[in-house]
Amino acid sequence: MTHIPVILDCDPGHDDAFAILLAAAHPAIELLAITAVAGNASVAKTALNARRVCTVAGIEGVPIAAGLARPLHGAGIVAGDLHGESGLDGPGFGEPTVPLDPRDAITLLRETLLAHPVPVTLVPTGPLTNIAAFLLAHPDLAADRIDRIVLMGGSTGRGNRTPAAEFNIAADPEAADIVFSSGLDVTMIGLNVSHQAPAAPDVLTRLEALGTPLSRLCVELLTYFGTTYREVFGFAAPPLHDPLTVAHLIDPDLVTTVRAPVAVELTGTHTRGATVVDLDGVTGRPANARVGTAVDAPAFWDLIIDAVRTLSDRATPPSSPAPRANR
Ligand code: BDR
Ligand code: CA
Repeated sequence: MTHIPVILDCDPGHDDAFAILLAAAHPAIELLAITAVAGNASVAKTALNARRVCTVAGIEGVPIAAGLARPLHGAGIVAGDLHGESGLDGPGFGEPTVPLDPRDAITLLRETLLAHPVPVTLVPTGPLTNIAAFLLAHPDLAADRIDRIVLMGGSTGRGNRTPAAEFNIAADPEAADIVFSSGLDVTMIGLNVSHQAPAAPDVLTRLEALGTPLSRLCVELLTYFGTTYREVFGFAAPPLHDPLTVAHLIDPDLVTTVRAPVAVELTGTHTRGATVVDLDGVTGRPANARVGTAVDAPAFWDLIIDAVRTLSDRATPPSSPAPRANR
């Protein structure tokens, strides 16, 4: 099996946590590094949460660095209404044993791209601040060493942070504009896709049935996320946006994509941060992204359950047979 080298740039975040688990567990992915960005909570909290997730899941040897604390322009926003004060409310986490890398996220990105023998895929699942800052700082390196960018953000329809804008794009529209204008191979998986794959009760039942500490923690994460999604949006079950990026890398057929022009609204009075996706080609602009339109939800949930099982098994390997006594 070929391994897809990946750097995950995230703001954990309940759904980011599952993106980490899937990227670390699946044999098709080689998770090279995790960079944290301000988004669902401050960057100090999202970096801490990434370390917490890796600690409970037994993910070791993947460097985790903290990135930018504020968007490229203006003041930051957080999503405490959905993710809680910590950014990852619900389960109790102990002190993480997985360390914080002393490098900042931009340095870790640069050094990881330079060190890897083949171009690397970036998977951003938070605001695009770190990625845009990297593209601005190292344009030549980006062109040579980034294979593609598969991001969670935006929507072909309505938003969630505002009626027009999805949270990750609304949190840093200028950064998103830089990424979509970069000329790199960009795939956008937005709300129009993630809302097709809610974590319905049968998902929680299947996780519970695994009966491991990690599966119980995952149930607690989804239960918390389900409560806030019900309170804030009236959803019957929460959409687990972020791991769809990793799932699409693992199985390209799992998310259907079309090539389309995507523009980020930077100036709209009521629409700043909207992704304007020209699915019908009415603008005549050239396509600058692949845009997700549909998802095979059962296949997605199978990947998630398998990832939790794999990581649980790694944490508790089957006991080896007792040595036979000497005769
Ligand atoms: C996105 O916003 C965040 O709250 C989630 O982690 C996800 O990345 C969904 O709009
Ligand atoms: Ca996220």
